[in-house]
Amino acid sequence: MPERIFIGVAWPYANGPLHMGHIAGCYLAADIFARYHRMKGNEVLMVSGSDAHGTPITIRADQEGVEPDVILDRYHAQFLDTWQRLGITFDLFTTTHTENHQRVVQDIFKRLQEQDYIYADTMLLAHCAGCSRFLPDRYVEGTCPHCGNQRARGDQCDNCGHTLDPIELVEPRCSICGDTPDFRDSEHFFLRLSAFEQPLLDWIGDKEFWRPNVANSTRGFLQGGLKDRAISRDLTWGVPLPMEGYEGKRIYVWFEAVIGYLSAAVEWAERSGKPDAWEDFWKDDDTKAYYFIGKDNIPFHSIIWPAMIMAYGGLNLPYDVPANEFLSLENRKFSTSQNWALWVPDYLDRYDPDPLRYMLSINMPETGDTDFSWNEFVRRNNDELVATYGNLVNRVLRFTYRNFDGQVPVDAAPPEEAETALLDSARQAMADVDSSLYHTRFRAGISRAFALAQESNRYLDARAPWQSIKTDRADAARSLGTAIRVLNCLKVILAPYLPFTSQKVHEFLGFDGDVSAEPWDFDALVASIKPGAPLRNPSALYAKLDVAVAEQEAEQLGVPA
Ligand code: MF3
Ligand code: ZN
Repeated sequence: MPERIFIGVAWPYANGPLHMGHIAGCYLAADIFARYHRMKGNEVLMVSGSDAHGTPITIRADQEGVEPDVILDRYHAQFLDTWQRLGITFDLFTTTHTENHQRVVQDIFKRLQEQDYIYADTMLLAHCAGCSRFLPDRYVEGTCPHCGNQRARGDQCDNCGHTLDPIELVEPRCSICGDTPDFRDSEHFFLRLSAFEQPLLDWIGDKEFWRPNVANSTRGFLQGGLKDRAISRDLTWGVPLPMEGYEGKRIYVWFEAVIGYLSAAVEWAERSGKPDAWEDFWKDDDTKAYYFIGKDNIPFHSIIWPAMIMAYGGLNLPYDVPANEFLSLENRKFSTSQNWALWVPDYLDRYDPDPLRYMLSINMPETGDTDFSWNEFVRRNNDELVATYGNLVNRVLRFTYRNFDGQVPVDAAPPEEAETALLDSARQAMADVDSSLYHTRFRAGISRAFALAQESNRYLDARAPWQSIKTDRADAARSLGTAIRVLNCLKVILAPYLPFTSQKVHEFLGFDGDVSAEPWDFDALVASIKPGAPLRNPSALYAKLDVAVAEQEAEQLGVPA
């Protein structure tokens, strides 16, 4: 029975290019998961888009002296290009600045208001006399009431992850001029989060399969008690409130951005000519909804968005929120403002996508923070990608192509124990990688696939077809034919991780069409290798990188030698 899988991925603010931390945080994991489920014949809808509103965009626009939509259009186009080049296969990557999104957001707002889950009240808002304006949440800094971090922002504390209102900060200050803001009354709308404390606790009760970091932090937030939260702001950039008299206010960016998961599904359905198709993913309770996000976004996806869904009614709650932890760069936190980042478009101008996908898969910050360093990148590229997998593909296929007339060898000697053992292991690896991917254990999956590649190399070293061909052609035909069958399995289990080079292996093996259409089925893959079938002349899958590359890149970044 095919499954139906909805994949929502965090919406990046369209205020600058993507860096490696974003990719390691959620985009790569989501894409591997989507590709895997599509290959398994499941119905997948993977959506996200540019987070168009909020102060990150307006700050950038102010800096450049342009309108916010100029910033949005520029980075949205760049994101689309990045997905293309990196092979991140969204079914739709839209923006929160569409009419469709506004309609869906306003519909939810009105329904929640009718049900008294949204109510109007006055709130004290930070006003800075020095800047003579109301301050957006992010412009207020101060000490976190939960953990004492002195550099918490008015929307969130990066140290403990709690979401905040500026008024909760101890010793608040304006991040622009440093003045102490005063708090003035302003009429706003509030989401009655307090009503969902118990329902949320009940809901996460059976989520033992959640990653421990996500489950624990979610329980922690809930045990701390849920307070109602303001969901409108004094701004003119964003989704308007759905009634008259609030022209100077907009819906708070976080409230509307998470609704993007729903509005994007609606837009996808409309664009694909089946306007009701989104309902399969949102109303059919057999659908499993996964949210791939970085750990700083956990409470928005494990508490606030689920509460909104409960309040609205009739829509699927998240099934899992497999948030990743953080990636650091050369052992320092990524920081756009300190220009400490590795931009994905720059990487893609200089290197291929699959080595990066490999590096970030094998080193994914799944259960703890991990680090990206150029040294490690070059080492893994050379010692693992090139030496283990690239070399296996290359030596098997080149040698066969040259010595067996460009065909899968015929007249092979019958299999012996070594062949049976390797093929059994390939069958087992297919099952293991399957199970790892199903359970969102991406590191384990790629490690297992590479263990099979290593085992195949050992098998070849032992069988040494380049020796036996001189005296016993049938023996060489047997070992090369066996290795070719294993490669046919490896191309499949590696396709979610390394789609570009898996496609190449598929073609070297003589096949046409898309590797992603191949079955995840050991017997079928072994059977589809037919003695005498034509192979294609292979080329190297991966390029070895000079160690000087690591030094140059690190130097350019400013890593002390
Ligand atoms: N733009 C937010 C960030 O970069 C993420 C928004 S995810 C969404 O942290 F679901 F709210 F859209
Ligand atoms: Zn804190």
